[in-house]
Amino acid sequence: MTAPRRFYLHSYGCQMNKLDSELVASRLLHAGLEPAATEHEADVVLLNTCSVRQHAEDRVWSRLGRLRIRKRAEPGLVVGLLGCMAEEHQRHVQARMPHVDLIVGPSAFGDIDAKVQAALERNAARAAEAVLAQRDAPGAGILAVGQGVSGDTIVRNVRTRPHRSQAYVSVMRGCNMPCSYCIVPLTRGDEVSRPIADIRAEVERLVGDGVTEVTLLGQTVNAYGRDLGPGVTLAVLLRTLHEIPELRRIAFITSHPNFLSRELIDAIAELPRVARYLHLPAQSGSNAMLKSMRRGYTRERYLARVAELRARAPDVELHSDFIVGYPGESDADFAATATLMEEVRFAQSYVFQYSPRPGTHAAAELADDVPRAEKERRNQVLLAIQERICREHHAALLGTVVEVLVEGPSPRIAGRMTGRSVHHRIVHFPADDAALVGTYMPVRITSAGAHCLVGELLPENHHAETGVARA
Ligand code: SAH
Ligand code: SF4
Ligand code: F3S
Repeated sequence: MTAPRRFYLHSYGCQMNKLDSELVASRLLHAGLEPAATEHEADVVLLNTCSVRQHAEDRVWSRLGRLRIRKRAEPGLVVGLLGCMAEEHQRHVQARMPHVDLIVGPSAFGDIDAKVQAALERNAARAAEAVLAQRDAPGAGILAVGQGVSGDTIVRNVRTRPHRSQAYVSVMRGCNMPCSYCIVPLTRGDEVSRPIADIRAEVERLVGDGVTEVTLLGQTVNAYGRDLGPGVTLAVLLRTLHEIPELRRIAFITSHPNFLSRELIDAIAELPRVARYLHLPAQSGSNAMLKSMRRGYTRERYLARVAELRARAPDVELHSDFIVGYPGESDADFAATATLMEEVRFAQSYVFQYSPRPGTHAAAELADDVPRAEKERRNQVLLAIQERICREHHAALLGTVVEVLVEGPSPRIAGRMTGRSVHHRIVHFPADDAALVGTYMPVRITSAGAHCLVGELLPENHHAETGVARA
């Protein structure tokens, strides 16, 4: 009997990309492959890729280059390019990287195990032939391309989870928004929502398996259900999942400002076990930029949504994404973004430098005219503002007790464990007890930096002031 084949899978993208990786990994495990500890021990190397910015793609091109060298020595090795780049660059990869055996876009993962097995068999045959004939293996063919959407690619039976209590659940895929700069609608296709009953059944299965925190995923998760007809909304989905008593936290990312409805705000305000943070990317604070970005709202409208949310649910914190150096962004436009950040006082922001994506409206029509150094400068300015705001938020938490879902040992400091508050803040505390992983513990905050909180563990029955489910 031959030894099981081993696979190595690296995820480069967003949460959805990581969830896809779980799906792929679970299919491969099911098919009898085993995970390899390192890329070098693997018979199958799979890169699940992202196209959202050039930098993400550059990393993959260089890794593929290194794999090409390895494959000359090991013709049996299977190299697979998965995810958004596979969808985007199918032909280009075939031409530039002929050693890639598999090119599979995000909507074609349903039979990934069969695709990998077939590639292994083909390559094994080719490797034998190479030994016999003492010549290089011929260029590998392409097995499959990410077309032909099948509904079951977003339904999983088996899953591998980072922590036994946490799971991501994809509630929709694709994106129908017209954001000028963004490649996601091209790589992920049209919005398709899963029926509520399917999602509930999956969440119940997960709960049966020990999950107590779910994060619902969608590129515009609060537009959930609009393809399924009236009455199917994220608010209704949240209320349905909230009926599952064992679920202690229900989070969802990412929300689009245009779909932050009154109905959704009410659900967030009324459902105590819905996580107390909302990822609501503003992208810019300048109306001229927002218009050119085709975001469909103004600064004033964004602020009005935030005010309405805060009036109903004052304990909910806001997270944002910002793009700096978008075409035509003047000093005044940028200053408007900085003041928006100050005005909303986000708990967390991701800042991205504009990167033109081939095939998008902005790349075709608008010159990438903000110099690289200026993009970098604006990036740093926003990060510094956000950091100061984070420090101020964190300082205000000193002495309070927060409920922490314990995720595991701190990756950096021995003797410390790490978890997340109901606001998604990272909290470290001295402890070294594997039995704590997956439990919800009260922690008193004793010190605070810009990026995390540090505290001391309290007895389990201690009442937490923040983040306790008021069931
Ligand atoms: N669907 C989510 C996230 C999409 S991608 C949303 O709409 O918010 C994550 C973030 O990447 C975006 O919010 C945006 O800030 C950033 N982004 C997308 N395309 C980009 C580009 N071409 N250049 C720089 N940043 C980009
Ligand atoms: Fe991209 Fe806009 Fe869709 Fe988000 S909403 S994925 S930024 S097109
Ligand atoms: Fe990247 Fe695709 Fe996600 S482009 S951000 S991996 S949807």
